[in-house]
Amino acid sequence: MRLEGKRALVTGGSRGIGRAIALGLAREGADVAVNYRRSRGDAESAVREIGRMGRRSVAVQGSTDSRADVERFVAEAHDGLGGLDILVNNAGILKRTPFLEIAEEEWDAILDVNLKGCFLVGQAVARRMVAAGTPGAIVNVSSAGQAVAGPNLAHYCVSKAGVAMLTKEMALELAPHNIRVNAVAPGLIETDINRADIAQDAFREGRLARIPLGLIGAPDDVAGAVVFLASNDEARLMTGASVFVDGGQTIW
Ligand SMILES: NC(=O)c1ccc[n+]([C@@H]2O[C@H](COP(=O)([O-])OP(=O)(O)OC[C@H]3O[C@@H](n4cnc5c(N)ncnc54)[C@H](OP(=O)(O)O)[C@@H]3O)[C@@H](O)[C@H]2O)c1
Repeated sequence: MRLEGKRALVTGGSRGIGRAIALGLAREGADVAVNYRRSRGDAESAVREIGRMGRRSVAVQGSTDSRADVERFVAEAHDGLGGLDILVNNAGILKRTPFLEIAEEEWDAILDVNLKGCFLVGQAVARRMVAAGTPGAIVNVSSAGQAVAGPNLAHYCVSKAGVAMLTKEMALELAPHNIRVNAVAPGLIETDINRADIAQDAFREGRLARIPLGLIGAPDDVAGAVVFLASNDEARLMTGASVFVDGGQTIW
């Protein structure tokens, strides 16, 4: 119960890594607001699962790339839980397109959700944390792609490199307010975002050959690191860091 009494918002908490993070935070005692964009049924089932753990939970709809949506769903999360101590910026999208073929609209969509979304939600939540005068922890879900290039992922990797620098900037400016900001950078984690790719032998074997531990991760592998970084006791000296959860993919 490392997070007893804490109140958390997880963006994109309806499915995949975000869902595992929402459940992981609740397992450690936190009340959790689950943000989603389209998957209402999945968000509501996460809320029910958190409720069965004896924790409070609300589902809050909205797209992280829209300021109007963000202001509304952050207010709903804040009011629904009576405050916010933890934010996990997890919502993200991925498209694999050769650099020569990326359309301007696709570039903007990836940057808007993955990078601007972290800024919009991070700013809205941090303002409330500062106003409340309570300590806070923010974890941005980045990617191993923040550090290494991947084929057909120019927009995605650029967005995640931006998240890594945004994490440092937020850490620097929010430290005087007792708010820590870190990033978790997952490697290959099997979720809806890549299930079809992983099912292809050439993709799977190609990626595994570059992962020293030879493992494809599960969402819970990422949730464990996020729970640690969200804990003001265990991670009290950590801010501005990127923690790679990637089986060693980025060390060579
Ligand atoms: N899986 C991997 O291998 C991997 C590796 C490195 C980094 N990551 C990062 O981890 C995060 C989660 O990825 P995942 O693999 O769990 O993907 P996923 O299974 O596709 O889940 C994505 C989640 O984000 C939500 N979402 C997408 N766009 C949104 C928006 N504009 N506003 C609010 N919510 C939005 C989705 O909600 P709806 O269904 O309601 O739209 C869903 O809950 C992403 O930031 C991704 O870049 C994943």
